[in-house]
Amino acid sequence: MKILIVGATSAIAIATARRFAIRNPHFCLLARNISKMESVSKDLIIRGAASAKCLSIDLVDQDQQTAKIKEAFSLFKGFDVVLICYGFLPNQSQCETNIKQINNALDCNALSVLSLLTTLVPYMENSNKGTIAVVTSVAGDRGRRSNFIYGSAKAMVSSYLQGLRGKLAKTNISLLEIRPGLVDSPMTSHLPKTRLFSSPDTIGKKIEWGIDKQKTTIYAPGYWRPIMWVVKLMPDKLFMRVKF
Ligand SMILES: NC(=O)c1ccc[n+]([C@@H]2O[C@H](COP(=O)([O-])OP(=O)(O)OC[C@H]3O[C@@H](n4cnc5c(N)ncnc54)[C@H](OP(=O)(O)O)[C@@H]3O)[C@@H](O)[C@H]2O)c1
Repeated sequence: MKILIVGATSAIAIATARRFAIRNPHFCLLARNISKMESVSKDLIIRGAASAKCLSIDLVDQDQQTAKIKEAFSLFKGFDVVLICYGFLPNQSQCETNIKQINNALDCNALSVLSLLTTLVPYMENSNKGTIAVVTSVAGDRGRRSNFIYGSAKAMVSSYLQGLRGKLAKTNISLLEIRPGLVDSPMTSHLPKTRLFSSPDTIGKKIEWGIDKQKTTIYAPGYWRPIMWVVKLMPDKLFMRVKF
């Protein structure tokens, strides 16, 4: 089994990779923090991976994306699973007065993912097999006053994936979207923790399940689906008054 992980130093990506490691796969890891990526690589080998190659990349740089994806596919001759799992949580109130910060947030959380998929999908189509799994967020389901820049970015990726899934319908490629709720990871380290937070391992377990079952869109944990169903159904005038 060959697995490409884009954003390999993310807590959710590490948790997912650890679950797959016992299947003895060959990993190709892409991330920008080389020393952290190398320690992830060693950890995966200890846990059973056959190999774990590290390629460093700043994912908002399109030229680097094109070059590294080409390198990854020529080294591995295709992948059974590609997991895309990176991004950052922008400061909402700063974004509201600073267009540069909005652009940075959209570049990393949305546009770079779209360009990555644009580069990557033709390679997957060539081998006509495998799963592409992309981590978005429940934040994309409805714009909330506390994080609507981040939410807008995730909504863009969600819409793109819905269309891309239609384009890939006649191929053997599965396209999985994972919408996690709140996760206790470095991205949310500054937020007070509530009972709604899940561990990265809980999300990793759900991602593994979604990949194995060839699901299309999953919520992680699953209880976020009915929560977001209610959130999406709320009338605008009521939703405007909700403080979250
Ligand atoms: N945590 C949550 O509550 C939550 C909820 C829903 C969805 N998600 C989504 O889950 C995914 C993973 O997040 P996480 O919770 O695992 O957070 P995390 O541990 O903070 O991981 C974020 C990762 O994104 C990487 N990254 C950011 N910008 C990058 C860039 N330009 N180039 C390369 N790598 C870059 C970071 O790399 P560095 O280590 O180099 O900074 C880090 O590995 C993200 O898409 C996030 O939006 C998270």
